[in-house]
Amino acid sequence: MEPVFSPHRFIASAPLTGSLRVPGDKSISHRALMFAGLAVGESCITGLLEGEDVLATAGAMRQLGAQIERSDDGIWRVHGAGLGSLLEPERALDMGNSGTSTRLMMGLLASHAITATFVGDASLSGRPMNRVITPLSQMGASFEASRGGTLPLMVRGINPAIPITYRLPIASAQVKSAVLLAGLNTPGITRVIEPVATRDHTERMLRGFGATLEIGEENGERVIGVHGEADLQPMDVVVPGDPSSAAFFMVAAAIIPGSDLVIENVGLNPTRAGIVTVLKQMGARIEELNLREVGGEPVADLRVRHSVLTGVDVDPDIVPSMVDEFPVLFVAAALAQGTTRTTGLEELRVKESDRIAVMAAALEAAGAMVEEREDGLTIHGTGGTPLRGTANAPVATHLDHRIAMSMAIAGLVSRDGVEIDDIAPIATSFPNFMELLAKAGNEGDR
Ligand code: S3P
Repeated sequence: MEPVFSPHRFIASAPLTGSLRVPGDKSISHRALMFAGLAVGESCITGLLEGEDVLATAGAMRQLGAQIERSDDGIWRVHGAGLGSLLEPERALDMGNSGTSTRLMMGLLASHAITATFVGDASLSGRPMNRVITPLSQMGASFEASRGGTLPLMVRGINPAIPITYRLPIASAQVKSAVLLAGLNTPGITRVIEPVATRDHTERMLRGFGATLEIGEENGERVIGVHGEADLQPMDVVVPGDPSSAAFFMVAAAIIPGSDLVIENVGLNPTRAGIVTVLKQMGARIEELNLREVGGEPVADLRVRHSVLTGVDVDPDIVPSMVDEFPVLFVAAALAQGTTRTTGLEELRVKESDRIAVMAAALEAAGAMVEEREDGLTIHGTGGTPLRGTANAPVATHLDHRIAMSMAIAGLVSRDGVEIDDIAPIATSFPNFMELLAKAGNEGDR
C-alpha cells in the first residue's frame, strides 16, 4: 500500500501563554504495561500515554496473554499473564514504529520457551537489533533476523536461560532493559554494567512490582543485578508527564518573544532532564515550580519565559540524559546568539531516522546555518531573527515523530513558515500535540 502523507505548514506564532499538560511518559508507559502484564493480579495505570508506540506494546502484551482494558475514566487495568506463563503469540507481533517495545519485548521473550516474530514499519525495519541479539544470545535465546540484524525478526526463547554479566558497549537504556527483563525469568542473578548511566525507569519500577535488584558501583561504573525467577506483585502506577514531549514546548516558549508558559506535571528524573540543564546554560528562563514526587519519579511544573539564548558547547557527558531532545535543541540553537556545538551524538544516527543528517537537511532548508559532522552538528544561530522558512519543498520527516515536532517549532519562528511532509508520525508519542499548540496560542490565533 502506498503511504498516505499528511502535510502541514507551521507559521509564525503569537506568544505561548497559559498552562498545559503534556501526555504521560512514553518510557514509563511501556514499562508499566509490560511489568503489569507479568504480575499476577490487577494493576491500574493512570496517566498512560495513549500514543501509537505504547498501544503497540499493549497489543503485543495481549497477544502474550495479558488482559488489558481501558475504562471510561482513562484508567488502564491490567491482569497479568504471570512471569514464566506468557503464551506463544499466534500472529506476528506488530511493533509499528516502536524501538522500545521491540527491544524490551525481545528481552522478555528470550527467557520464555516460546517463539515469536516481530515486524514493524519502514523506519523500525531499518533499525539495528544486534545490540540486543548479542547479549540475549549469550543467555541462550536464538534469533533469525533480516539482513543486518533488522526486522522482521524471529526470536526463539529458552527456559531456563543462562544468567550473564553484560557490560553495555553503547549507552542504551533499551539494551540494559532487555537484558534485565530476560533476567527476570532466569535462575540466578543477571547483571548489567553501565559505564554511562542511562534512564533508570526499569530499575525503579521493577522494584515497585516486587523484583529484587542490587544496584551498586564498581570502578566508577553502575552495576545492576536482577534476581531471577522473580515473583512480581501487581501495583498501581501513576505515569508522570513526558519530559521529551515537554521539551518541544520548553523550546517554543524560550524562543517565541513574549511567551510565558507553564508546562505542568513534567517528569524530571535526573537521567532524563538534561534538556532543562542545557537550555538554562543557554540562558533560558525556566523555573521549576511545585517540585513533588509522582509514581516514584521527581516531577515539577515548569514555567518557561522567552529570553535571548546564547550558543554553548554541549558537554557530551550529558547526552544520555537528553538523547531524544537533540532535534529540538538544534532548533533552539538555530535561533540563539552565536554558535552551538554538539558532539558524541553517534546514537542519533540510528533512532527513528538519522537525526543528525535529517535535522541538518531540514534546518538548512529552513534557512539555518548548520555544519554536519559524524558525531553531531555545529549550528550558527540567528540571534533571535526568525528563520527564512521553507520556500518550495516540504521538510522530509522520514517517519520520525521528533523531526516532525521539532520542525513544527522551527516553523513558529520563521518568516515564511515551515512545511512538513507528514505530521501523522506525531501520534506515535504525542497524539494531542497539534491541539496543545493551538491552545497555547499559536495556530488558532492566525
Ligand atoms: C528509551 C531509550 C532510548 C530512547 C528511546 C526510549 C527507553 O533509546 O531514545 O526513545 O524507553 O528505554 P536507547 O536506549 O537506544 O538510547
